[in-house]
Amino acid sequence: MAYIVPELTDYSAQSLLKAFADAKLAFRDEMRAITSEQEWKAFRDRWMARKNGLVTQINDQLKAAPKEAKRELGQHLNGLKQFIEKETNDWHEFVEGGTRDLSVHFQSVDITLPGIRRPIGAEHPVIKTLNEIVSIFRKLGYSVREGPVIETDYYNFEALNFPPDHPARDTQDTLFIAGQESKPLRERLLLRTHTSPVQIRTMENIKPPIRIVIPGKVHRNDPPDASHSPMFHQIEGLAVDTNITFGDLKGTLDHMAKELFGSGVKTQFRPSFFPFTEPSAEMYVSCFICGGSGMRGAEPCRPCKQTGWIEILGCGMVDPNVFEFVKDNGYDPKKVSGFAFGMGVDRMAILKYGVDDIQLFFNGDVRFLQQFG
Ligand code: DAH
Repeated sequence: MAYIVPELTDYSAQSLLKAFADAKLAFRDEMRAITSEQEWKAFRDRWMARKNGLVTQINDQLKAAPKEAKRELGQHLNGLKQFIEKETNDWHEFVEGGTRDLSVHFQSVDITLPGIRRPIGAEHPVIKTLNEIVSIFRKLGYSVREGPVIETDYYNFEALNFPPDHPARDTQDTLFIAGQESKPLRERLLLRTHTSPVQIRTMENIKPPIRIVIPGKVHRNDPPDASHSPMFHQIEGLAVDTNITFGDLKGTLDHMAKELFGSGVKTQFRPSFFPFTEPSAEMYVSCFICGGSGMRGAEPCRPCKQTGWIEILGCGMVDPNVFEFVKDNGYDPKKVSGFAFGMGVDRMAILKYGVDDIQLFFNGDVRFLQQFG
């Protein structure tokens, strides 16, 4: 039944509340039932016409009301007006998709017209590579941990066996947060330069045995060029248990390389140095572009610089000095051993997809990104 403004005789708070609630419900029901532009116009006039529209009629009741009820009635009326305005706006947005032209909504539908193609997003190639690597490790029973991008000196350096003033810190091209000088060194903030700090954060919280991978963003003071970006991504790995050996490290990382780049690739471990692992190594994979020959036909192979090998990560056995920092949580270096590794995800994506400039990943050009959709 169409709504009519009730003749008010009872001005109690409760009765006013009900009267205005009824009006709101009626307004909403009528609006929802509209199916054509014509109906919309009639509806609008019925409620909002200055002369004798329903809102005006309700307004007139205000004049007839006893003095004591005027204030409360006025407040209700303002509430109703606001409600009507908001409902009308919401409804407009809903039916028009923002076009403001109601005829668009009410025109008859031509089913032979092509539909509206909605662009669907795609995983960014770096995130895709990151997820792929993480899933290789998940299948081996690793779980995923994350940590803060703004990190303290303690986690980024000290607990990873980079003593204060040690030259190994220079390799990290750190971006420090300004104005931290009044704090003790270990509390000073910086942008983490690697995902390795999450090794310590995790060992502080979880007792051995652990097997974890840690994906995330890292920052370094490197000016952007084809192979450098001040922000990039790493995946860290850590396995700690009794009797973990370098053989476990090699087997695990060799498996990862084959899953990622194909079962034909070979791996090679060359001695290296990282403060938090001893011994340390860099893992190389045989170049899956040129098959290890260093040549592509008559052309030199660029990704492997004609060597037939590509370096893909750093790794090693966790240094006992690192365990000392978390000894109280069950990481006694005499009882447990472990291996760790860290790799650049963006670099892996570059290799996997044959991209020749890391900047392409970050300047948001859809023509580039679409190719991975
Ligand atoms: N954190 C090192 C870096 O960013 C990479 C790394 C090397 C991580 C060896 C490790 C590792 O866990 O064992 O330069």
